[in-house]
Amino acid sequence: MKKLIISAALGLMIPLMSIAQSTLGPGVTGSSLTVAGLPHNFSGQTWNAYNATTMQGGQICQPCHTPHNADLTVTEAPLWNHQFSTAAYQMYTGFDFGTLVSGVYTGYGVTAPDGTSKLCLSCHDGAVALGAYGGQTGGAALTGGALLDLDLRNDHPISIPYDSLVGGGLHTPTYIYNNFNPATGGYITSGRAVTARLDAAGKVQCTSCHSAHSNSRGYQLGMDNRGSALCLACHKK
Ligand code: HEC
Ligand code: HEC
Ligand code: HEC
Ligand code: HEC
Repeated sequence: MKKLIISAALGLMIPLMSIAQSTLGPGVTGSSLTVAGLPHNFSGQTWNAYNATTMQGGQICQPCHTPHNADLTVTEAPLWNHQFSTAAYQMYTGFDFGTLVSGVYTGYGVTAPDGTSKLCLSCHDGAVALGAYGGQTGGAALTGGALLDLDLRNDHPISIPYDSLVGGGLHTPTYIYNNFNPATGGYITSGRAVTARLDAAGKVQCTSCHSAHSNSRGYQLGMDNRGSALCLACHKK
């Protein structure tokens, strides 16, 4: 019993310590970006250090958004500020791809990320410094578990049109998917159709599964993935 109490206390201490050190990453959850230590709260990072003389730095939104001189080529997020990667990627080439289904499918032929995925990869491909925004070049590039790198063949396909004919394993776009129900450990209707998880062009992007801002479900997830509810929103299994 005593042992259990000690390990519970230690378990509590680890996330607290990471807050004090402004360590980014898993462990800290919260729905508001103001929560210190959230993966996307960059206010404590060395490349975003608060400068007492200029009274700049330590900002939460600025690494991604700016009030002025935003990147006008970006239509998926308002007033975009982070420098884009110019890297070339190896895209997912799954075994359903390239198959002709019902005479209409000619293959996706996706050669590069687009939409919100490009915004995410401006940090997560590790090719651009985290502090490269608003004309600054500072800081190291992303490393560690959150690095996707330039080889996206080992990541869930992104920037692909959602086509429920492909492989026959996907729900139709109008299917109303379920959320995980923590009260029962089962499922409860979300009242939302698959299209709600797709971008304006009907494509699967990073934001089909993730939220840029909220980390209330851990891993920046856009919906609770217990019971694999997120996966089952699109996949018929
Ligand atoms: C300004 C740079 C930047 C941008 C843009 C960015 N991220 Fe991140 N992201 C980070 C950093 C830094 C971390 C923390 C890395 C670590 O833990 O070492 C992170 C962590 C994450 C994590 C892991 C969370 C966890 O609990 O471990 C996910 C998931 C994630 N980001 C998804 C996204 C998605 C999706 C987008 C686009 C909507 C995006 N990021 C855009 C820099 C960025
Ligand atoms: C890691 C990068 C990142 C950070 C940090 C970030 N955003 Fe965003 N934001 C995005 C992306 C990507 C989108 C577009 C995708 C989406 O809507 O999920 C977006 C969309 C938005 C939108 C339009 C859609 C909406 O959610 O209303 C607003 C407004 C916004 N952000 C404001 C902010 C503010 C204010 C902050 C700071 C408190 C902030 N963002 C911090 C990446 C970021
Ligand atoms: C089909 C859903 C889906 C898509 C699309 C997706 N992710 Fe994820 N991602 C997840 C899930 C679920 C996790 C949580 C990890 C787990 O369950 O193993 C995750 C984890 C992550 C992590 C944390 C990895 C770690 O081990 O710390 C990062 C970073 C991340 N995703 C970034 C991205 C980016 C950037 C994109 C777009 C290029 C993207 N994801 C697209 C579902 C997705
Ligand atoms: C927004 C819809 C959507 C969500 C959510 C989603 N997927 Fe997918 N997934 C797709 C699409 C579209 C494809 C590409 C078509 C295909 O291969 O069937 C795909 C492909 C895959 C493939 C590759 C299949 C192949 O034939 O190469 C796997 C495996 C997979 N998804 C697993 C997952 C898992 C695990 C999750 C949850 C973390 C998830 N998906 C969430 C839409 C989604």
